[in-house]
Amino acid sequence: MPFAIDKSAAVLYNGSMINVLFVCLGNICRSPTAELVFKKLVDDAGLSDRFSIDSCGSSDEEAGNPIYPPALRVLNAHGIDGAHRARQITYADAERADYIAVMDERNRSDVLRRVGYSFRDKVFKLGDFDGEPHDIFDPWFTRNFERAYDEIYRGCDGLLDYINRNRNT
Ligand code: 4NP
Repeated sequence: MPFAIDKSAAVLYNGSMINVLFVCLGNICRSPTAELVFKKLVDDAGLSDRFSIDSCGSSDEEAGNPIYPPALRVLNAHGIDGAHRARQITYADAERADYIAVMDERNRSDVLRRVGYSFRDKVFKLGDFDGEPHDIFDPWFTRNFERAYDEIYRGCDGLLDYINRNRNT
């Protein structure tokens, strides 16, 4: 898929780091995929020094675990790799983040319940940056890791585009 960011806009960033945090339920499938895809898009756009990018889970069920192997295989097939250990979101994470990109409505309510509803204005659904707003269904249950990757890629592409436009207004 072509990468549609307007690279000329990047020079207009205001100088502060942009902190993006991806969140799913377990932090072993969707959010680490989003973290690594977004890092690649940012890197390809020459913006790595402008961004702090991380991921975590709304739960601690998978804490300490690496990326789930089927999700990692899809990433690898798309030329993306990276080390990862799952962890649960903290209040400090939410405070630090400029954008908290969750995967589905359950993530949104779980995250806000855990860190506090005062953070609701920085919580976005990644699928809302991919044309028609939608949840990114959990491949843990659908087993469709390629579809999840595609949706996550489009969401990350749209999110970076959104951040770029937002930073220039
Ligand atoms: P993720 O996937 O939220 O995309 O990391 C899941 C991983 C583990 C479980 C559920 C979802 N689980 O129930 O253990």
